[in-house]
This record gives sequence, C-alpha cells and structure tokens, in this order.
Amino acid sequence: MRHLPTRTTRRGVVGALAAGLLALSGLSAPALATPAADPAAPALDDGLALTPPMGFNNWNSTHCRAEFNEAMVKGIADIFVEKGLKDAGYEYVNLDDCWALPQRDANGKLVPDPVRFPNGIKSVADYVHSKGLKFGIYTSAGTKTCNSAGFPGALGHEYSDARQFADWGVDYLKYDNCNNQGVDAELRYTTMRDALKAASQETGRPIVYSICEWGQNKPWEWAADVGHLWRTTGDISDDWGSMLSILKKNLPLAPYAGPGHWNDPDMLEVGNGGMTDTEYRTHFSMWSIMAAPLLIGSDLRSASDETFDILGNREVIAVDQDPLGKQGTVVSSERGRWVVAKEMKDGSRAVALFNETGSPQRISTTARAVGLPAADAYTMRDLWQHKSYNTAGAISATVPAHGTVLVRVSADTKWAKHPPAVELGLDGGQLIESGKPTALTTSVTDLGRTPAKRVSVSLSGPAGWTVKANSPTSAGALPSGRSLRTKWTVTAPPDTEPGSYGVTLKATYRSPTGARVQSVLPLTASVVTAPPAGMSQLGDLPWLGAANGWGPVERDTSNGESAAGDGNPLTINGVVYAKGLGVHAESTVEYYTGKACETVTAQVGVDDEEGEEGSVAFEVWADDTKAASTGVLTNAQPAQAISADVRGAQVVRLVVTDGGDDITSDHADWADAQLSC
Ligand code: GLA
Repeated sequence: MRHLPTRTTRRGVVGALAAGLLALSGLSAPALATPAADPAAPALDDGLALTPPMGFNNWNSTHCRAEFNEAMVKGIADIFVEKGLKDAGYEYVNLDDCWALPQRDANGKLVPDPVRFPNGIKSVADYVHSKGLKFGIYTSAGTKTCNSAGFPGALGHEYSDARQFADWGVDYLKYDNCNNQGVDAELRYTTMRDALKAASQETGRPIVYSICEWGQNKPWEWAADVGHLWRTTGDISDDWGSMLSILKKNLPLAPYAGPGHWNDPDMLEVGNGGMTDTEYRTHFSMWSIMAAPLLIGSDLRSASDETFDILGNREVIAVDQDPLGKQGTVVSSERGRWVVAKEMKDGSRAVALFNETGSPQRISTTARAVGLPAADAYTMRDLWQHKSYNTAGAISATVPAHGTVLVRVSADTKWAKHPPAVELGLDGGQLIESGKPTALTTSVTDLGRTPAKRVSVSLSGPAGWTVKANSPTSAGALPSGRSLRTKWTVTAPPDTEPGSYGVTLKATYRSPTGARVQSVLPLTASVVTAPPAGMSQLGDLPWLGAANGWGPVERDTSNGESAAGDGNPLTINGVVYAKGLGVHAESTVEYYTGKACETVTAQVGVDDEEGEEGSVAFEVWADDTKAASTGVLTNAQPAQAISADVRGAQVVRLVVTDGGDDITSDHADWADAQLSC
C-alpha cells in the first residue's frame, strides 16, 4: 500500500500552523477566530448520529469511473425504497470523490462535473430527499481531494464550501485528508466542524460530519466533540486480508465509541465480488457488532439476491443500531478464534463467534463470560438462521473457515418455549489426500437445559466420494451436556483435483415439545497433494490458503499494488531474486506438508519497491508451533536468512506481521523460499 502524497504529523503548534494555513489559502481571519467548542464536551451533543449512520457511498464500487453519475445515485435511492433497505434503516445516499470540476468558479464556488451531474448537485439531493432519504457529499481537508485529477479541497474554503453544501441540501459530509499541507489535523477538522455548524444555523439543515483522516492522528482521542464518526484506518479493499486487518485495528477502540461519536472502520465491501458470501457475512456481522457505520459500497443496481439478504438482515442491523450505542468488545481471541460481545439496551448480549482461520474451528464462550446474569437457561437467537433455541449457558459452535456465527443471548423467562441448541463438531478430516481413506469423528452435543430426543446425524460429501459410518449415527435422547460421537471414514476418488470441497454435517432431533429441528454445518474439506519429495520452491507449490494485507500474494514477484500480477522483480537491498513469494503485511500463506517435510528456508526482507519505509517481521509456523522468526526488519537491512525445522507438521504457515507499527509500505519478500521433504 503506497503512501498518499501528503501526511500530517500528529498535532503541531497550532498558532504557527494557523498562520501557515492563512497564508496558504488566503482564508479570511474570522474563520479561524471562531471559538473552539468547550473542550470538556464529550460529544457534539446535537442529536445527530445517535446510532451509527447507515446508507450508501459509491467509492468502493466505482472509484472515479464514469458510472459514478446522476443515474447511479438516483438508481440507488430508488432501490433503497423498492427493496426495503430504507425500511431496514439505510438512510444516507452519499457521493464520494470526483463529483466536482477541478476548478472553482470566479466566485470561489465549487462546480459539479457537468458530465456526471448535468443537473447539478442540488437536483440530485432534491431527488434523494423526495424519496424520504438523506444526501451526503465528500471533500478533503486539504487543498485538493485524493484523486490525481486535482479536484478542489476545502482547506481555506471551509465556511464557503460548508454553506454551499447546506444550500444544496447536503445532510452528511465525508471530509478526507489528502493534500493537507501538513496543517494540524485537529485544527483542520475543527474548522470544518465550526463551518458546518454555522451553515446549519444559517440554513436550518443539520449535517452529519464524518472525519476521514485514516486514524493517523488518533482521532478517537480528540474527535468526539469534533465529528460524529472518524475513520480509524487506511482504506478498505475488497479482499479478506484487508477486511481482517481493519477489523483487528478497530476492535480495540471500543471504549471510544458511543451515541453521536463512532469509530469508522471504512465502508462495506459486501457484494463487490472479492470475497465469498461467508466472508461477506463475517464482514457485515463484525461491522455490526462493532457498531460501525453501515455504508453500502456495492452497486445495488446489479447486486445478487445473496447481497440483498446480507445487507437487509434486520436482526443483524438491530445489533449495529442498538440505542445503547456500545461497540462490542473482545472476550477472547486465541489462535484466530474470536469471541466478541456487545451489550444491548434490553440487557441481552450479541455474541459473534468469528473464525479467522482457513479451517473449521470450535469457538466457545458462556453466558457468564459475555456478562449475562446467572439463570437456569437462556434464549439464544441465531441471527443468520433466524431461529431461537435454549441454552444452559454454553455459547459454542463449530464455525466454518472465515465464517461467523452471530447470536443474541438473553436471560429471559421464555427459554423453555425453544428447542435445545445443539453443537455440531468435527475432529480431523479437513485435509484429505485423494484416494486415501481418512478417519474423522463427528459430534452432536446438547447445549440446552432440555434434552434433544430422537437424534440422528448424517455426513455427506461431493458426488463420487464414499462416506462410511463406523459407529452409531443415532441416539434416543441426549440429556443436557451429552454428546453423540460418530466415527467415519471418508475417501475422495483417486483422481480428485486439489481444492476445497463441500462436506455437510446434519443432525435432526426433536425438542421435548415434539418440534422437529434440523441443524446443518456446512464444512469444507481440502483435497491436498502429498508434498513432493526433495527440494521445492514454495513459489511453485499450490498453497492451502493465503491472506494478504494489500492485494493478492504474488509468485516470483514482489507484492506490487492491489491487482493480481502487478509486482516487480523480488528485490531486497538491491539484490534481485528469481524465485519466491511477494506479500504485504499482515500476511499468512499456508502449505500442506502432511508430516513429510523437514525444513523451510528463505532469504527474507522488505522489498525495495516502496523506498525507505516499511517494517515487518517474518515467522514460520509448524502447525501450532512458531518454528522460526526474525526480529523487525526494515528497508535499510539486507536480506536475512531464515530456517525452520518443520518435521512432523501437517501444515506450515509463512506469516508476516506489521513489525509493531501499521502496515503502510510493508511489502515483504520470501525470496528463494524452499521446502525440503
Ligand atoms: C481516500 C479515502 C477514501 C476515498 C478516496 C477518494 O483514499 O480514504 O475513502 O474517499 O480518498 O479519492
């Protein structure tokens, strides 16, 4: 990920910077003379954004491409109404960068691009308003916005631009950080706050204020009385690694969020095609449990039914929009198995069991651990299945790779109306060599206060696979806490191509009231090829899974930019390598080694393509053991040799961390990476 052209340093000497700002922009003195708000005020306290803003923004789907225009914006407003998204709470229809012409008019006013917006901005705002929705716009707290075409920014024009926005009918401003001339961030963002307030007072139009300085100046520490929301990270992109790294940065900021002042981990990518629907459900679940703004970033005019199902899930939206306004907090996060809990106004807890890893994981917590009072039993509502169960207190599930089980648990008196929850489990069997019988064990466990009766379990694989039960597949009754365990042998045909295959575990049972319940656990088995004997270049082998902080992992080139195949020759400190992997922190690349390999060796370091910056650390894992690691390496250092003993490991993971700072410019090379088996 490259640096944007101008960065702001954290807080400067405000007086000197203010003078610089005046000189730079020809700004009239009164703008900065406007008194700052009472520093003790905890939030803007204007009644806006009492729950996280919901709506749409075009950026993630269009960037500055031509399809970002009046027809698109109106089309989205139409769909909000027609498809029930407005009723589900989506309200703001927002424009991002590239709506203006590069030059202001003779009066210093902003001019809408006549090709994209032939009828101007006000007419689009009027249209959006006519649908009972609200309208948002974008500019930067700099001399120009972020796009290289050089659209005007508001630095030095805050009062005039804010007034122009209010006159157009703007209800929401996203205020970016590019080309900020090094002026103190708090000063720049506070000036626009005051300008918006003045414009609101003059026109009677309240404006939600979204601070977008990418978390560079820790806005969570100073912006509660400046804006209604603030970005906490750099830009999201439509891939798993990006979403994951942003999620991990935003989670620890929970104490700073509340009504009228929210952490903003950036807009949604749901529906843009770079992740699976399972991953998009995770993205939406986790944004909701973090009380994040829910700004749809896909072109709904061509969205799939599944995308509408995810974005329109009202039970998940209710978690995000809960009026208590708490951001969920991490209960545990051992080895990629995350439990995040959010206190809700009605006393219940929303609980996300989120599996960061590339294989199914059992993730467990209890009603007590998420803060619920002691009770005989609890009602547990599954917010993706839309079903309610009773639980004696365990909140536990086997969660598919990259998936999230999202439940809402309450200590109410109605639990007995619901059937007992069961937990489906699986031991082994996730990595299968074609043609080789693989043993695995499934379990069905009653988590409820009441027994599960007439329990039966089935396991099925793709056509042509054989699945054989070697022990009983049914039980007359499972009392609370007990399990039905079944041993199986699974065989994939000898010519099965390596890859991921769907395997489904199903259990049916009766609740004490006689209702029939079916519980389904969709799993994936990876068909793998035995690692080749002798020395292999890891850049030539298929991997089991790969996550990367910016664009995809590249074979035999550096990471490059965010597209596939856009890397450069692997180069560390001037030395070029023909073979290896080019990655970007945070990164994990996993290989199947089937207990048949001995060592991983490589020359590692920060790639030269980003110049001076970037700092990373390399780790090689043999199953759950860290087998080798480097300290933090910077661009100034030559390649370092790393060598890991991986004997006995089923899976080897190559991990690159951000070196303790952030991931900016963290382009890392596993040069000449070899596996010996
Ligand atoms: C920055 C912002 C993005 C987007 C672009 C537009 O990168 O962080 O969200 O607004 O600018 O150019």
